[in-house]
Amino acid sequence: MSENAEIRYQGQSWEFPVVVGTENEKGIDIQKLRDRTGLVTLDNGYQNTGSTKSAITFIDGDKGILRYRGYPIEELAQKATFPETAYLLIYGELPTAEQLRIFRQRLTENSMIHEDMLHFLTGMPPSAHPMGILSSMVNALALFYPRFYVEDMDAATFDQMAVSLISKVRTIAAFSYKKSIGEPFVYPRADKTYCANFLNMMFDSHAKPYSEDPLFIEALNALLIVHADHEQNCSTSTVRLVGSSYANLYASICAGICALWGPLHGGANQKAMETLSMIQKNGWTAEQVIAKAKDKKDLFLLHGFGHRVYKSYDPRAKVLKNLVERVFSTKNIQDPLLNIALELEQLALKDEYFIERKLYPNVDFYSGILYRAMGIPEDMFTVMFAIGRMPGWIAHWKEMHDEGNLKIGRPRQIYTGPTVRSFVPKEERV
Ligand code: SDX
Repeated sequence: MSENAEIRYQGQSWEFPVVVGTENEKGIDIQKLRDRTGLVTLDNGYQNTGSTKSAITFIDGDKGILRYRGYPIEELAQKATFPETAYLLIYGELPTAEQLRIFRQRLTENSMIHEDMLHFLTGMPPSAHPMGILSSMVNALALFYPRFYVEDMDAATFDQMAVSLISKVRTIAAFSYKKSIGEPFVYPRADKTYCANFLNMMFDSHAKPYSEDPLFIEALNALLIVHADHEQNCSTSTVRLVGSSYANLYASICAGICALWGPLHGGANQKAMETLSMIQKNGWTAEQVIAKAKDKKDLFLLHGFGHRVYKSYDPRAKVLKNLVERVFSTKNIQDPLLNIALELEQLALKDEYFIERKLYPNVDFYSGILYRAMGIPEDMFTVMFAIGRMPGWIAHWKEMHDEGNLKIGRPRQIYTGPTVRSFVPKEERV
């Protein structure tokens, strides 16, 4: 059912089609707005602007719903594996047993990085942030692996790029950790699953062999699944925008990693953990922290709280909070930072400021607690987010190129600078 929206301005009126999605979301199609009216729209932070139609992920922020290709995140986190979810996001359907076997085999076969890439890694300073390493190394993948321009890209080349990125991102991440602690790199193994391979590359060493921990493997699997996609968030929109210029997939993903690094986005998981540690170190009470978060004169932000789309509890935060409780009780882990987080949440959810602004815990509030329990260091938390988000970024890049009528992303603006004026020689400038 197509409806129209009417815009009236200075005595004229125009009708524009309204696009209705499969979940009954509605958007005014303004592609002809400027041609017909001379007007553009202005929308700081794109809070009301849809950049595309997409069939990958659906979010209902008011009801706290998140589905990948129609499957609820709660079910996938409990019943699927991360490779299965990656396949679903990229190709649109859950893989058959045979498709999954082949996909997993290709992930295993593509887990190594070119030995010459290690020169980049070893040349970086020991204190290099793992997100800076990851973005540099992912961009370098385009130098070592099939060089292609998007116009020449066929399905087989795309498939190769996709498994290469999803698999190698683990290896790069684990190698950056080993480098930071001065230990030799542990290479991926063909006999380990996706998550088990990553944890082994991170924590195995000759001095202290790492034995697989099924509960941590299960927890990591769920963590990566809940991070795998989130429709048109900042980093995914970045991947699409860079990809719209026909930049190659590695360059587009590198840009997405850089966008994710920001503390208002994926960097929030590291900041949230740093906040909890600061609260513990300074002996602040939860009341003092909530007061700081509400104080406009105080630059303090309660990272891990609030969301552009979720105006109710982030369903991913619910999954992770339950997972924390299960892992901690099974392993009898005591972590004072978890108690601080639970107390903060309890207070915030009863506080008028948070209620009025619909600020709830988001995916970044509890994820760090789990990573920390696994022994993953804080500066690797956003790298973990990137490992999870990789299939989502790839899926959106593919969807954009598959659509066919790809337009380079080029927003308009309203100019507010000086009107025309003539050049003044420096001698005459005051
Ligand atoms: C992710 O978009 C996605 O989908 C992202 C993501 C994904 O999976 O890709 O979900 C991942 O990035 C989650 C968000 C992680 N970031 C943080 O946890 C950082 C802390 N949160 C805030 O910076 C903020 O809530 C954002 C950035 C998440 C959302 O910002 P918006 O939508 O632009 O909202 P806003 O900043 O305009 O806030 C509205 C009001 C403001 O107060 P008023 O001016 O109305 O008085 O809420 C306040 C804000 O000051 N507010 C907070 C707050 N978050 C918002 N106040 C205190 N602490 C906070 N955390």
